[in-house]
Amino acid sequence: MSDLPAGFVWGAATAAYQIEGAVAEGGRGASVWDTFSHTAGRIKNGDTGDVACDHFHRYKEDVALMKELGLTAYRFSIAWPRVQPEGRGRTNAAGLAFYDALTDELLNAGIQPWPTLFHWDLPQALEDDGGWLNRDTAHRFEDYAFAVGEQLADRAAGFMTLNEPFVVMALGYMLGIHAPGHQLGLAGGFASAHHQLLAHGMAVRALREAGARQVGIANNYAPAWPATDRDADHEAAAQLDALHNHLFTDPLLRGQYPAAVLDLVSTHAPEALNLIQSGDLATIAAPLDFLGVNYYQPDHVTADPQSPFGAKVEGVPGRERTHFGWSVVPEALTQTLTDLKARYGDDCPPIYVTESGCSQPDVLIDGRVRDEARSRYHEAHLEAVAAAIARGADVRGYFAWSLMDNFEWAEGYSQRFGLVYVDFETQERTPKDSFHWLKRRIGG
Ligand code: FCB
Repeated sequence: MSDLPAGFVWGAATAAYQIEGAVAEGGRGASVWDTFSHTAGRIKNGDTGDVACDHFHRYKEDVALMKELGLTAYRFSIAWPRVQPEGRGRTNAAGLAFYDALTDELLNAGIQPWPTLFHWDLPQALEDDGGWLNRDTAHRFEDYAFAVGEQLADRAAGFMTLNEPFVVMALGYMLGIHAPGHQLGLAGGFASAHHQLLAHGMAVRALREAGARQVGIANNYAPAWPATDRDADHEAAAQLDALHNHLFTDPLLRGQYPAAVLDLVSTHAPEALNLIQSGDLATIAAPLDFLGVNYYQPDHVTADPQSPFGAKVEGVPGRERTHFGWSVVPEALTQTLTDLKARYGDDCPPIYVTESGCSQPDVLIDGRVRDEARSRYHEAHLEAVAAAIARGADVRGYFAWSLMDNFEWAEGYSQRFGLVYVDFETQERTPKDSFHWLKRRIGG
């Protein structure tokens, strides 16, 4: 067990739509995920986030669990439609009050609050006006960010603007697997990417104005490994690498889009490039205090001309798989972290691993969940972080995904990622063996 640096932040992460429930309470408006999950055929078993973990009512119990676990930080997201039910204009005092109370509850438990402003639950009213295809959504996000900043900046340890804009682009706007369910190819994909990045830059400005201590973003990364030595697979991997790993980071840290992405867009959707207005990249490249890295598995890539990405991603042969079928490859986390250092050098701010974790086929038997595969997963990925630090990466914390089992987007409740088991009938919480393991690990 390697030592991690002094002051290393031990966290767990969740997201509003995945845990809160109470979708019609406290003046909350509808989000794209309410609409999507209530559309037949979109979510496994017809599941929705209507109740989820009922965290809106049980947050005190959940914070008590975090305290017992020994967390020093908790990453949660704020539901934009709780704060602005129509996505614009008036703010809803009851919505802000919930996050205010959660923040105080965390601080009283000695846990740093790390809020994310957008973890995918866009107000439906903004989607009705074009969502991330519409530049105006970025301006609306700036207003929202300022409203949240005014309320929480005095107490939040670190704000993240967006969660995984790549996934919103890929699954929400190109493949139609996530809300809002569009299949718009590269034209819509790039529009959603540029407007999210612009929204991020504007929100950084708003959060700073509101007095935020630290501002960052949570991107997801996956080293792109060609499946074979064929040139076509190498080319497909290079293209996916640009879209997945550089599209949302080069503009932030270098103030420019990667040449490979510009080439691709100018070939397939040239009109989308007109969305970039003068001054946008300067806004997007506002300095950051930290970079959040969400990591699950590498992209193991085969060329596939049918896919809008030109690539098919499959598991890595010969590796352990999670319940989701994702490959367990801790050294790809080390690579992710050292690649960021290699590409951006001193322009890369300090890094926090803002998500890492696995789904397992957990069963509760006699009050116990024996999920040693999850404990091993976290231990191996913490070792991978230590290895990256030894190679010069500045990594300051690790947030396990997730604190508790929750609504796993298109998979509904069928994938359990939690350190705490949730019985979705009774809402009873049971710490799994991995919870007790992590508690010992944090305790050193
Ligand atoms: C990430 C999401 C998070 C969760 C995990 C499993 O892409 O940010 O909400 O669903 O995957």
